[in-house]
Amino acid sequence: MSDLRCDISMTVNGEAVHETVDARQTLVDFLREQLVLTGSHVGCEHGVCGACTVRVNGLIVRGCLMLAAQCEGAKVETIEGVSDTGEIADLQDAFERRNALQCGFCTPGMLLTAQELLASGGVPSREKIREHISGNYCRCTGYHAIVDAIEAVAQARNGVKP
Ligand code: FES
Ligand code: FES
Repeated sequence: MSDLRCDISMTVNGEAVHETVDARQTLVDFLREQLVLTGSHVGCEHGVCGACTVRVNGLIVRGCLMLAAQCEGAKVETIEGVSDTGEIADLQDAFERRNALQCGFCTPGMLLTAQELLASGGVPSREKIREHISGNYCRCTGYHAIVDAIEAVAQARNGVKP
């Protein structure tokens, strides 16, 4: 098997990153192991559970299905960066208040996925929320509280009384 390595440059959470990676290294492994950004989790490793969700050029992606080398020149954002900017402070607060997390393994991916939906504007129906987060597995909460939290933030952002 080849041990091909390549040099990559990208921005991660607004900072320029220049690293050498194994050509087969996934984006989530690169973020966790090389940059020590461990907020993105690794679950199934084949695109099913959503634990590894990060944003690349503004779109959420599965960090286990994308290679680090494919992110050459890209703008990568992880839960750490999105938390630091305050962009999802209301969502994080709502998740906490409504007990929408227990072990927290799914939470970073769930928050980024929820934010993608809310950023598209309006107050989505509970059905739409469920559909949007259907690719993010949670083994603890039963999803009700997560949908409650996302719905509450959508209403608050749009000035709708619950
Ligand atoms: S670890 Fe990537 S989708 Fe499950
Ligand atoms: S809070 Fe444990 S998997 Fe979702």
